[in-house]
Amino acid sequence: MRATAIPVAGRVNGFVYAIRNIVAEARKVEAAGKTVRYLNIGDPITFGFQTPPHMIEAVARAMRDGQNGYAPSVGILPAREAVAGELSRRGMPVTPDRVVITSGTSEGIELTLTALAEAGDEVLIPSPTYPLYTAVLAKIGAKAVFYRKDPANGWLPDVREIERLITPNTRALVVIDPNNPTGATYPDRVRRGLIEAADKHNIPLLADEVYGDLAYDGPVPPMASLYPDAPIISFSSLSKAYLAPGWRAGWMAVGRTPRLDDVLAGVKKLADGRLCSTGPMEHAIPAALNGDRSHEAVFRAALRERAELTVSRLNAIRGITTVAPTAAFYAMPRVALPPGVTDEQYVLGLLRATGVLCVYGSGFGTRPEDGFFRVVFLASPAELSQIYDLVADFTQDFLARA
Ligand SMILES: Cc1ncc(COP(=O)(O)O)c(C=O)c1O
Repeated sequence: MRATAIPVAGRVNGFVYAIRNIVAEARKVEAAGKTVRYLNIGDPITFGFQTPPHMIEAVARAMRDGQNGYAPSVGILPAREAVAGELSRRGMPVTPDRVVITSGTSEGIELTLTALAEAGDEVLIPSPTYPLYTAVLAKIGAKAVFYRKDPANGWLPDVREIERLITPNTRALVVIDPNNPTGATYPDRVRRGLIEAADKHNIPLLADEVYGDLAYDGPVPPMASLYPDAPIISFSSLSKAYLAPGWRAGWMAVGRTPRLDDVLAGVKKLADGRLCSTGPMEHAIPAALNGDRSHEAVFRAALRERAELTVSRLNAIRGITTVAPTAAFYAMPRVALPPGVTDEQYVLGLLRATGVLCVYGSGFGTRPEDGFFRVVFLASPAELSQIYDLVADFTQDFLARA
């Protein structure tokens, strides 16, 4: 008897995650004998940066001390106290009972969007965006409504456009600042505009602040510090600035306004269903937030050096323009594609010819013909320099041939 394939749910079709999906293509290139340089995933560990030893010790100690059972579903109290203390010191006054420890920023976002949006509801998402947002909304059946960030204006959003996009069905406004995929940080003027729009329309502002400590000029305060009574929920984790992405240790903090009390209760109820985040890793949160942070300044300096190299080398290539990032480890260059050619064709061509793997901008929501692609610049300056030589040679050929 011939086996009939068992069907998957339709929502899987809407779940697109270009950052990882493109790896299948890279594996084929590797199988053909070429070395692939993975510039697609923002994982500092892969490039030799190391988790601070006192955080590792805190997790190891917790395991040795027998802290291997389920944690409370909202997370252990010392971790929640550490998050509340950290955010309060930085101007977002919040108590530990409004903090939930999550499996990374990702889980906090998923819990919150699940608590907020019904199928068919709308959520305002930046374009280009980090693809988790569209993927989670596809899963919930809610609609992503994109607001544009303008490369001609430092990749900043336009608050007036956002206000125009708000409807009675809007359930949340997502803001990623500092930003992935663009590396931009938003000035207070823009942050205030975004908060005022959310406040006026009584829409929760979901502040993805996972890169908050990685602005090259030093940590940026949480958005809620500008207006602590606005409906803001802040998300972050140990993944980026604390160099422990595999631990899946993160948190969310719900602003003090009583307008968010039901949302907090909803999130806690959903959190009960997944039991807890990774228990021993929760013990690293107080160690990270209250302990030695000297690694952060070193990491920021390394990022600034790589950002400057990236911008100068890419902008020297005819046909490529790049807005200088001010935070994190991403840049979003644009290649001037001839008519009819897509960003995906360019990125796949680059991969097949040189082994350099980037993600095409349309994976983040830009238009395929606009020619954006995202570069993760965590490799060493020497390796980045070789990579940009390859990009330069390929781009010259590609544009000459097209
Ligand atoms: C903007 C943004 N939010 C969330 C995440 C996921 O972070 P976490 O590892 O904390 O789940 C990432 C990871 O790259 C990101 O870039």
